[in-house]
Amino acid sequence: MQTIDRAKDLHLYRQVTDLINTNIESGTLRPGDRLPSLRRMSEQIGVSVPTVRQAYIELERQRRVESRPQSGFYVRAQSANRMVRPSTRLGAGPKPMPVACRTLMERVYDGLYQPGIVPLGIANPCMAHPAARGLHRTMKRVMSRVEERALGYAPTLGERRLRQQIAYRYLDTVGATVDPDDICITNGGQEALLLSLQAVAKPGDIIAVESPAYHGLLELIDSLGMLALEVETCPEEGVLLDSLAKTLDLHPVQACLFSTTLSNPLGVSMPDDKREALVRLLEDREVVLIEDDVYGELLFDGRRPRPAEFYAQSGRVLSCGSFSKTAAPGYRIGWLLTGGFRSPIERLKRSYSCSSGLLQQLTLSEFLASGDYDRYLKTLRPVLRQNAERMSALVAEHFPADTRTSRPVGGSVLWLELPRSVDSETLFDSAIRNGISIAPGLIFAPDRRYRNFIRLSFGHPWSERIEAAIAWLGAEVGRLTGH
Ligand SMILES: Cc1ncc(COP(=O)(O)O)c(C=O)c1O
Repeated sequence: MQTIDRAKDLHLYRQVTDLINTNIESGTLRPGDRLPSLRRMSEQIGVSVPTVRQAYIELERQRRVESRPQSGFYVRAQSANRMVRPSTRLGAGPKPMPVACRTLMERVYDGLYQPGIVPLGIANPCMAHPAARGLHRTMKRVMSRVEERALGYAPTLGERRLRQQIAYRYLDTVGATVDPDDICITNGGQEALLLSLQAVAKPGDIIAVESPAYHGLLELIDSLGMLALEVETCPEEGVLLDSLAKTLDLHPVQACLFSTTLSNPLGVSMPDDKREALVRLLEDREVVLIEDDVYGELLFDGRRPRPAEFYAQSGRVLSCGSFSKTAAPGYRIGWLLTGGFRSPIERLKRSYSCSSGLLQQLTLSEFLASGDYDRYLKTLRPVLRQNAERMSALVAEHFPADTRTSRPVGGSVLWLELPRSVDSETLFDSAIRNGISIAPGLIFAPDRRYRNFIRLSFGHPWSERIEAAIAWLGAEVGRLTGH
């Protein structure tokens, strides 16, 4: 057993540094783990608090740990040299097209619900640390208070109290004033996207999307008979505005559908000045922007970027939000900032689904009002960050050396570029046979562009099964590449 030896001819802080490094190397302390507090460590090993502090600072200098304000010191993923950004440059002249991989998408969804599967293919951040107890308590309270009313229909645009709470949250987190009457509660973010597309475009219209783009979005565009057109997206700053301007010169784009915060699967967020420039560019050309903002609250550092809607001067920016990623996907509650399209959206909502579940709306409204939502998010984000670090470290350990990985700053997914010879559909098939679901890169573009990419989700309670699944995937990629 390694302990501190005062008789040894080595500074005490050096001995503490060695002790922690030994624990990191043996895997006792893993990427994302918090080091014991200074006081606790000093009591445990019998050295002074300043000595422990000096050791932690030394470990930070060695890049073994990082300090996080008001939180402590955390073990870093020891793989920074391999964590380069994946390449996603598009070849010249992408064309608007229908989605090409419908059957693969169906197989991906089927795989997710196989009994006993390790579900690395679904982006479900809040399930990493579910809010089940808090939400159940709140729902019981709501039921006991409003009884029969909670079983009835909600107004088409949604329960007013929830719309007020959402408006309050925009004010509180980004200083934006939103009229609750400009919010339509929807069945998840997906219905918000559907209503937006139907309100602003018709079959045959071209919808510009990021590349890579969330597969549910591509499927939706396709099912509405519209055409998806990819726009070059940079892994540091999101959609490239000069490429977008060229695309708009070449094609009669009806609307752009972009995620400005934590796009799925790249995990990229647009800097504020770029968001504003994006809105200006599209407003100048009278092109509608539908913003998919379902991950807006899930940056690990708790920052809440302003939605693009914040910068809009015309009514041509709509923004889609959801509680699926931050509270409960099964509640199916999202919302839409309707911009200048309130009346067509209200009409569409009424004709498609009448309204969204009232009991879930009342529960979420109370969850927000009590402060429980905010408190919950503060506990969820560090769990996601730790999972991201663990998954990144395991990928670095088990996948071939030329694998390239995104560096998520929030959300719940990792985007991997595998060696060129790997076909993600083949990998998907063998993973499913081995009880693991992954999202193959092929479903993130209308063509087969991301053949050798996969998306892995870390939105689950961490477990040895997940670790074993990542190790298996790494070995299988090695096998497919002939290593
Ligand atoms: C980028 C993106 N947009 C929208 C959705 C749909 O969200 P919801 O479950 O609220 O319908 C998802 C869900 O995975 C998503 O990842």
